[in-house]
Amino acid sequence: MDDLRQKYLEAIAGAGSEAALEEIRVAAVGKKGEVALQMRELGKMTPEERQVMGPKLNALKDEINSALAAKKEALGDAALDERLKTEWLDVTLPARPRPAGTIHPVSQVTEEVTTIFADMGFSVAEGPQIETDWHNFDALNIPPHHPARQEFDTFYMHRAEGDNRPPHVLRTHTSPVQIRAMLAQGAPIRVIAPGRVYRSDYDQTHTPMFHQIEGLAIDRDISMANLKWVLEEFCRAFFEVDEVELRFRASHFPFTEPSAEVDLRCSWEDGRLKVGEGDDWMEILGSGMVHPKVLEASGVDPTEWQGFAFGIGIDRLAMLKYGIPDLRAFFDSDLRWLRHYGFSALDMPTMRGGLSR
Ligand code: PHE
Repeated sequence: MDDLRQKYLEAIAGAGSEAALEEIRVAAVGKKGEVALQMRELGKMTPEERQVMGPKLNALKDEINSALAAKKEALGDAALDERLKTEWLDVTLPARPRPAGTIHPVSQVTEEVTTIFADMGFSVAEGPQIETDWHNFDALNIPPHHPARQEFDTFYMHRAEGDNRPPHVLRTHTSPVQIRAMLAQGAPIRVIAPGRVYRSDYDQTHTPMFHQIEGLAIDRDISMANLKWVLEEFCRAFFEVDEVELRFRASHFPFTEPSAEVDLRCSWEDGRLKVGEGDDWMEILGSGMVHPKVLEASGVDPTEWQGFAFGIGIDRLAMLKYGIPDLRAFFDSDLRWLRHYGFSALDMPTMRGGLSR
């Protein structure tokens, strides 16, 4: 029996895995194991012998079982230690890798402009890019044979032959969103509408698709003075300078009366723009007091309500603010350009935190 004890205790001590341990258990104390075989021998013994051997065999069985249990636990601890060592984590690493993509300057500037106007109480309105002829022109006081329709280089959607309904167009400006917003919300109203617009035009400063942001504020007593303040405030915030000077130049749009194009005082140094100083003027937007006919077409009573509207080119703002010389590169999807001019996805423009950094 001592041989048996020594053999199994040594085997248990030397076992390298739980599987090896299980094999030893079966061979030693399993139903057909060596200890069980010895117990079967008890039947052949005299009662005296059995009284001595019986307890001894039981004790041996207990001893082997507890050695197995202790070894099993030790193996488990070792396995856990091993896992803890290999599954070690450096919790000081950043949670995510730096994003490889960048935010396109058009998206960045749209966010910046929206943030500034949201801060002044404007909410965001939207309209479709495929627009009805009526929303894009008629409702904006541009009737079918008005010369302004030619000025816009409009893309007309194809109509089936024999279909004589007026065509849909790719909207040539964001102004139709004025109509949609007033029809939906009535007056008073304060909205901006950023989005894509289309004109058949292509050179260094024109692409067939570009971006505008429309502004509209209608109330009982809104005047050109309010328009001027809002635009000055906007330019100060957008160009991140303390002082700006705007010049309102009399102009003409069918949907505003009076109308003004707005220029910004600036200078150019080594191809880079400086805003608020210098002897140059840079045209940045079109604006005016919303024409009574436009209010009427939008279900707003012009004897009760009045206000201003403006339209700014987003791509142009991006070129000016970030010194980007060629508009066409905006839409080439050249990765090198995007990495150079793009913005970090984690830096959202805010009025408090800064618009661009
Ligand atoms: N829709 C005009 C354009 O695209 C801009 C504009 C908007 C002018 C609102 C006046 C008022 O040129």
